Amino acid sequence: MANRIRSVADAERLARRRLPRELFDRIASGAGQELTLRWNVEAFDEVIFNPKTSAQRADYNLSTTVLGNDIAIPIMIAPTGNIRMFRVEGEPSVAKAAGDMGTIHIVSAFMGYPIEDIVSQSAGPVFFDLLLTGGRAVAEVMLSRARSAGCKALVVTMDRAGTHPVERLMTSRPAPPLAVNLTTALRYAPQLVLRPGWTADFVRDGMHLDCPMWVKDDGKFADWGDVAVAVRQPSATPTWSDVPWIREQWDGPLVLKGILRVDDAMRAIDEGVDGIVVSNHGGRAVDGSPASLHVLPQITDAVDGRIEVYFDGGIRRGTDVVKAVALGARAVLIGRAYIYPFAAAGGAGVRRILEVFGASMRATLRSLGCPSVRDLDGSYVTAEKGSPSVVSEAFKEDRAQT
Ligand SMILES: Cc1cc2nc3c(=O)[nH]c(=O)nc-3n(C[C@H](O)[C@H](O)[C@H](O)COP(=O)(O)O)c2cc1C
Repeated sequence: MANRIRSVADAERLARRRLPRELFDRIASGAGQELTLRWNVEAFDEVIFNPKTSAQRADYNLSTTVLGNDIAIPIMIAPTGNIRMFRVEGEPSVAKAAGDMGTIHIVSAFMGYPIEDIVSQSAGPVFFDLLLTGGRAVAEVMLSRARSAGCKALVVTMDRAGTHPVERLMTSRPAPPLAVNLTTALRYAPQLVLRPGWTADFVRDGMHLDCPMWVKDDGKFADWGDVAVAVRQPSATPTWSDVPWIREQWDGPLVLKGILRVDDAMRAIDEGVDGIVVSNHGGRAVDGSPASLHVLPQITDAVDGRIEVYFDGGIRRGTDVVKAVALGARAVLIGRAYIYPFAAAGGAGVRRILEVFGASMRATLRSLGCPSVRDLDGSYVTAEKGSPSVVSEAFKEDRAQT
């Protein structure tokens, strides 16, 4: 199956064929009318390349570092919850694939397997992604387990998803199943009958709906019903006042995810964090917030190298990665671009899409006359359709002078 994937679009088609419609839509959808979801992808079309005549032959190196960890390609696997629902191999197979390809898996707190079993599968670094679902007491236990399991950095998700209406999922659809029982089985029977492969795997796997990172007071794992309720509590999303507390609990590298404004990036620096992810949660938080790419240049300009800046939102091709890195991101995260191949073909699908991205990136660097992703800068790109925020002021001034 994996060798049928030549693009994210291929993988999306294969995932759509394998998954019940409800699950596919949970991956593909965004908040509200999906403006931000669409803008994230479209923003890349506004950026064009400025190829240089190649002065030298090179090996077109994709390697870089993230928080001191060497990675072979500047693409990390984004934290995405509940992927065991999409394919039973779940996070251990994704972590293994990421490690095999020389990169990092950032595991969502809403993981379907114990963190210990995920980290032990990967030859590469694994980062842990935290929300405050369940409150500080639950977070404390999660952090201690993540540290003991060997997670190399903590990513804290600061933007709020899970509470925003998704119009695509509201059109005369039943509420998502949070428990397996006769009622949900009957309600979803038509979708399950049409997707026998997924259904057989889910049943063989014991119909797991557990979240083993979150151990409740009664010693049992939380299930998706608990998570769905908790995520709606205002306290589930960390605020600035939680950051010093989190800092105290975690002595390793700390990254804040979900930054879209220069003042928030400055605040992150003041709080002593090591990195930020410019992200709008893949269009799943506030619909109408800007495409991540539109705010990336102003944030990287303002941060000016003081902390590492990563990027996510809308990456569907190797060329998109090159554009984001040229606009200042040290590395990117991919969400849907890895979930579709994973849902279609498991860990082999994740490895395959990273190979596809890598081949496209090397070809792009060659055409740009740029020997390495570490040499990419704003001179290699410009905005075609004139979206004023795509290209930073500093870059425009540079261009004006040359
Ligand atoms: C199905 C799904 C689940 C997600 N779950 C989480 C999560 O648990 N924590 C988090 O910080 N972000 C989560 N995200 C957002 C991703 O980490 C990432 O920001 C986003 O997918 C990037 O956009 P892209 O899908 O266009 O690459 C999720 C995204 C998707 C599609």
